[in-house]
Amino acid sequence: MNYVAKLIENIYRTKGDLSYLGEGVSQIEHAWQCGQLAKKNSASSELQLAAWLHDIGHLLSKEVDTPTLKGHDDRHERIGSQFLKNLFPEAVFVPIALHVEAKRYLISTDAGYLEKLSPDSVRSLTLQGGPLSIEECQNFLSKPFAMDAIALRRWDDQAKDSECSLLSKEEVLSEFNDLMVSCS
Ligand SMILES: [Fe+2]
Ligand SMILES: [Fe+2]
Repeated sequence: MNYVAKLIENIYRTKGDLSYLGEGVSQIEHAWQCGQLAKKNSASSELQLAAWLHDIGHLLSKEVDTPTLKGHDDRHERIGSQFLKNLFPEAVFVPIALHVEAKRYLISTDAGYLEKLSPDSVRSLTLQGGPLSIEECQNFLSKPFAMDAIALRRWDDQAKDSECSLLSKEEVLSEFNDLMVSCS
């Protein structure tokens, strides 16, 4: 296993069992479910890895518990993408950087999207800036990897299934490591 994969594995090993912001799944369950949805949809290895790692910023943030309940945006998309910037290609860290903006885009352009959001995602929406304006939507779509960020965001919203059976943590980490090595 290479150094980067080991470093990230250790983050999930030590903090992966943290609750995913009161959503009924842990951070590692959310990451795994999101990665599985990317895989089922035949995403590239880089986008599968982005799906896995999209919320690593929550694990790197100093904010604990559920920041949105205290009216804080932990800016996890920025923290996560900055951390990953020197470790993986753009196709991994840019969709992660854009996954919150993708949510704001979908709120503005998909009439049924709001009702698909979890309570915490609704709570964080205002803190993250709310819906994008028409001009901001056009600007978002012009960015590289915007469509990947939208796909990631839709998997993200589905990856909170507390009934979904998880492989053992070791099996999950092993699958995760293989993907990281293939992308680094
Ligand atoms: Fe997120
Ligand atoms: Fe997420």
